[in-house]
Amino acid sequence: NSMLSWQRTAYHFQPENNWMNDPNGPLFYKGWYHFFYQFNPNGAVWGDIVWGHAVSTDLIHWIHLPLAMIADQWYDINGVWSGSATIVSDDKVVMLYTGLTNESVQVQNLAYPADPSDPLLIKWVKYSGNPVLFPPSGIDSQDFRDPTTAWLTSEKKWRIIIGSKVNETGISFVYDTEDFKTYKPLKGVLHGVPGTGMWECVDFFPVSLIENVGLDTSENGLGLKHVVKASLDEDRHDYYAFGTYDERSGKWVPDHPEIDVGIGLRYDYGIFYASKTFYDQAKKRRVLWGWISESDSESADMKKGWASLQSIPRTLLFDNKTGTHLLQWPVEETESLRLSSKEFDKVLVKPGSVVPLDVGTATQLDIIAEFELDEKALEEVYESNEEFSCSSSGGAAQRGALGPFGILVLADDSRSEQTPVYFYVSKGSDGYLKTFFCTDQSRSSVATDVNKQIYGSFVPVIQDEKLSVRILVDHSIVESFAQGGRTCITSRVYPTKAIYGAARVFLFNNATETNVTASLKIWQMNSAFIHPYQNENHIDSSIKLSN
Ligand code: FRU
Repeated sequence: NSMLSWQRTAYHFQPENNWMNDPNGPLFYKGWYHFFYQFNPNGAVWGDIVWGHAVSTDLIHWIHLPLAMIADQWYDINGVWSGSATIVSDDKVVMLYTGLTNESVQVQNLAYPADPSDPLLIKWVKYSGNPVLFPPSGIDSQDFRDPTTAWLTSEKKWRIIIGSKVNETGISFVYDTEDFKTYKPLKGVLHGVPGTGMWECVDFFPVSLIENVGLDTSENGLGLKHVVKASLDEDRHDYYAFGTYDERSGKWVPDHPEIDVGIGLRYDYGIFYASKTFYDQAKKRRVLWGWISESDSESADMKKGWASLQSIPRTLLFDNKTGTHLLQWPVEETESLRLSSKEFDKVLVKPGSVVPLDVGTATQLDIIAEFELDEKALEEVYESNEEFSCSSSGGAAQRGALGPFGILVLADDSRSEQTPVYFYVSKGSDGYLKTFFCTDQSRSSVATDVNKQIYGSFVPVIQDEKLSVRILVDHSIVESFAQGGRTCITSRVYPTKAIYGAARVFLFNNATETNVTASLKIWQMNSAFIHPYQNENHIDSSIKLSN
């Protein structure tokens, strides 16, 4: 089915076929990045969950390995669910994961490599004393899952958190352990937020306030803050917040309670869920993986035989310009896929106009763009639109004084299909500008069984900063990063006409009162090598291929 095979991506991680969901246990070990994931070996819908496994030397080119863990024990027979890796020492890795028991109780289990000297970590052994943790009393047996990577306390104990809920309050339990086999619960919770429901796939890590580097999960002390992230089962988004971690009590307090976990900032304002970070000790960075599901129908997924992608891994840094946001940016290795490029310098886009950009085939692109508005318009226009919201607006077609303007990707010549990625600037009665960043899927596809939402949010813009965006286009995914990654939006789109050689890129400006001047650099992107493991020689040649 050529229409559906077009949707397969070229440089995003996905299994050969079938269903994938959460990223699991990412780590760097003996020269290899390991990636595990929730996988259904039997179909393109969620179910029969086991752990898939792949390795890479650069987070872009991957070799699929045999399944790491299957559902073969009473304590995980109904599902080998999400979990995390901890590097205990140079030669020792442990994996903690949630198992769904024969009675569908959520328990935590321990696994470790059969041969720690194997850099590919192909074989995994489950601990004979599993499960290592049962749901605490008073907690529903269905609400206790997704253990984090462990970090060290000053007493050299390992500490983990596990997501749960009490009534409608999302919470994270804290445990200390010395051997990963027996655990001591701490009193209370690391943190909880009323009204946020079940916290899935919690994450906890420090960010440096001083240097542009990632920190090992165990780092603590001065010059850093701690991030808590939860995936809200009820609204299917990943929320993070900055705060202060008190090691003695095992508690974390948000910097700004009004933008606490689950009610404030999201990693991504499109589709991006159940994410997980890891510390890459080789490149001293913290890397974020997120599950990008489909937004078409289940029957379409079954027809095409696969469902879901992983995001391009993102480097995470604290944004010390705003002090309120993380900066998320595609890992630098993404740039190794860049082929030929075209530059467009100061293209004038008048109010109400569309300008085609001739870049040839436009299905695999890396786009960097900057926009400037007329000084005069910015000074003179008043438009009190503080209540603007991307999702309840009329999208790219709704005209305001200072927006929308931006880029149309995966558009056909007649623009019967197009996905606008754009800014909308509003000027409040106080004279201040407020900028929004949106992606409009309402005309992405003429198909009817697809999500047509308009995504987006506020994006902080510092005085004298130009508006800027980076967009990764890969067939059926559009990942967009505004202002260096302060606000990000991932979309899955399913064009029927704007495919293969028919896909185009345009600039557009639907503001009524300002010209827009756009400067861009657009690269064609190579396909990544993402193939099954065959034998050792094959591994050698594929490493060469990726270098
Ligand atoms: C999140 C999640 C996790 C669970 C896993 C099961 O998407 O529901 O909470 O461990 O997926 O596949």
